[in-house]
Amino acid sequence: MVGFAVVGLGMGRGRARLVSETGGAELVAVVDLNAELAREVGEELGCHWSADLGEVLGRHDVDAVLVMTPSGLHAKIGIQAVEAGKHVVTTKPMDVTVAACDRLIAAADTAGVKLAVDYQSRYVDTNFRVATALRQGWLGKPILGEVRFKWFRSGDYFEHSGGWRGTWAMDGGGSLANQGSHLLDLLLWFMGEPSRVYAETDIANHDIETEDLGMAILNFTSGAKGTILGTTTFPESVYFSAEVHGTEGGVIIEAALDGTSRVFGEGLAERLNAIENPLHNIVEDVVSCLDQGTELRVDGREGRRTVALLEDLYRSSREGRPVDCRRSSDD
Ligand SMILES: NC(=O)c1ccc[n+]([C@@H]2O[C@H](COP(=O)([O-])OP(=O)(O)OC[C@H]3O[C@@H](n4cnc5c(N)ncnc54)[C@H](O)[C@@H]3O)[C@@H](O)[C@H]2O)c1
Repeated sequence: MVGFAVVGLGMGRGRARLVSETGGAELVAVVDLNAELAREVGEELGCHWSADLGEVLGRHDVDAVLVMTPSGLHAKIGIQAVEAGKHVVTTKPMDVTVAACDRLIAAADTAGVKLAVDYQSRYVDTNFRVATALRQGWLGKPILGEVRFKWFRSGDYFEHSGGWRGTWAMDGGGSLANQGSHLLDLLLWFMGEPSRVYAETDIANHDIETEDLGMAILNFTSGAKGTILGTTTFPESVYFSAEVHGTEGGVIIEAALDGTSRVFGEGLAERLNAIENPLHNIVEDVVSCLDQGTELRVDGREGRRTVALLEDLYRSSREGRPVDCRRSSDD
């Protein structure tokens, strides 16, 4: 049984419930600076609760810590947890800068613990099948990968929810970094390494520091092209999609968070459907990794790629020109 603590109980509340419902996992503790919230969730889910992370990190029955605080705190809290000998999962994005991600990766390596990043769209069957098919070459030579979302976020969402959203320091960007990071992660998973990007961003209809509209053109080292469009200015949240095609076939994933899709290409739909996806969420993934020794779907180095892409996109937008993508820390 893998004992989990969940830190940060906004989105973390749902993740704590997921832990409590997943075989092989035990929800040991929940933590939030807001003690009243921690108590409420702890009582609801029948686990220890605390406003003091240090106290929870001292517990021997906590094996893994899920960091669900505002994004700019992920590495700081993650490092505290790995230094206490705990495996760590951060929610997306891994943190707001590559430098912070690198500190967390180095700390986890030093401590000899596992580090994962929770990108829930990685566990959706359709997305797993498309990534697998692309790696097998079933779509032929990749030509274009496209991700886009048009969502609504109110002024209240930014003003009255802890004051961290839409800030560089805690959100690491706007629509691309927060809502869009799931799709950026999918694009990188599907298409591989970007070599050059050009981005434009705008703050069109919110009173925030970071963009509520972002667009980009990408070149991948494979020779394929990519595009990104993400905005929180649409009157409603209407779509969140990923599309990819190559010389032999294409897939339009109309809803990347649930996997609704259309497949084009001779026999491709049947071949995709035959691919078994063994993992359905981050908790199963961590339990399988620790109990069976399987690879994490998104480890620290993989999670860092999205943050590196975000930095490249924002650099391009600031400088008003295409930029070469920086290489990974392992190069
Ligand atoms: N689908 C997803 O994967 C998904 C969805 C939403 C949010 N997120 C991510 O989850 C993170 C949090 O977003 P949210 O919407 O839950 O935010 P939120 O503001 O609703 O909740 C954050 C919680 O963290 C607590 N907190 C802040 N600092 C803390 C600290 N030092 N120690 C303990 N608790 C602390 C706050 O009191 C608050 O309850 C962000 O990184 C965001 O990108 C992921």
